[in-house]
Amino acid sequence: MKKISLGDQVSFCYEGETVLDALLRDNIEVPNSCRQGACQSCMVRSLDVEPPVASQCGLKDVLRKQKHFLACLCYPEQDMVITLSQQPEFYTEGTVVDKKPLNQETLLLTIECKEPLDYYAGQFVNLKRADGLMRSYSIANSRSHDRKLTFHIRRLAGGRFSEWVHQELLVGDRIAVSDPQGLCYYLPNRPEQNLLLIGTGSGLAPLVGIITEALQQGHTGDIHLFHGSREMDGLYWIEEMLELERQYPNFHYTPCVSRGDSPEGVAIGRANDVALNRLPDLKGWRVFLCGHPEMVNETKRQAYLNGASLKDIYADAFHVASTSLD
Ligand SMILES: Cc1cc2nc3c(=O)[nH]c(=O)nc-3n(C[C@H](O)[C@H](O)[C@H](O)COP(=O)(O)OP(=O)(O)OC[C@H]3O[C@@H](n4cnc5c(N)ncnc54)[C@H](O)[C@@H]3O)c2cc1C
Ligand code: FES
Repeated sequence: MKKISLGDQVSFCYEGETVLDALLRDNIEVPNSCRQGACQSCMVRSLDVEPPVASQCGLKDVLRKQKHFLACLCYPEQDMVITLSQQPEFYTEGTVVDKKPLNQETLLLTIECKEPLDYYAGQFVNLKRADGLMRSYSIANSRSHDRKLTFHIRRLAGGRFSEWVHQELLVGDRIAVSDPQGLCYYLPNRPEQNLLLIGTGSGLAPLVGIITEALQQGHTGDIHLFHGSREMDGLYWIEEMLELERQYPNFHYTPCVSRGDSPEGVAIGRANDVALNRLPDLKGWRVFLCGHPEMVNETKRQAYLNGASLKDIYADAFHVASTSLD
């Protein structure tokens, strides 16, 4: 058991618990969302000892040096004195300007931000509602839209934020939008490189942003998108992707379903299996993987074994905090 001191408050972190678990148990309000080290909303700072290396995964060098760490990744190795982060996340005010269905479970949400955001195609933001509940959502635009951002938001049955977005959030409502984050994004540094993009469900969102950006930037390498879902109902934007395929000879789109019948042009099987069967040699390719965490982790490994260099594999696993029911 390790002692975690925050001001006058002392919390105890038991074996197998994170600092975030201990603080939340004592009703200390720490912003959090994914509880998997992805959204960085739970960043806090150590005032004495060096935080465990694993708890600083993905943080900028300057933050690491200042002993910031992610409370959800921190299994303390010794007692710690901490403070809530003095690097408050920057939020701009957003207004919902459009909301329409993409399929039965996913909607296209458009938010106009008061301040322009500087982001790379494929990054995500944290959306925060008035009571402080926040969740991460990937930007589905290219960089040319700095104020109007679109999101693909999938409704999870029983999910607090996504159900609220689907059922209660209205056009005209305000919502806070964080600084863009994440390392899964497109840079136009090697336009001749072939790109493989695999997404499941609303994992299409960042990939649409990346593809649009790459095509706008004149990417000359082949761009292969595999979008997967269990059934046909879970796919969306098929027509839009087919239209893009007609416009750009180097863009190739394969919708995939892993169950049931599929119409002509839709592959049967998991998107990652279909993709790696068709493109077994990924030496020199840039790979983007977004959506279900299991798919992302499994395919990362497989893409590496198929020849992609680790530095060319970009991934965003859409972790949901299923064990965190606060
Ligand atoms: C980097 C990143 C990018 C992301 N991008 C996107 C995106 O572009 N689009 C998108 O749709 N999602 C995205 N996500 C996922 C998103 O952040 C949310 O996790 C997701 O919308 C679910 O949030 P929620 O509040 O609706 O569900 P939560 O309330 O967090 O619930 C999560 C799960 O727990 C279950 N649950 C909730 N309460 C209970 C209970 N009392 N008992 C049992 N089970 C319960 C819910 O049914 C649900 O399945 C992303 C995540 C990350 C980390
Ligand atoms: S990084 Fe800790 S809650 Fe998301």
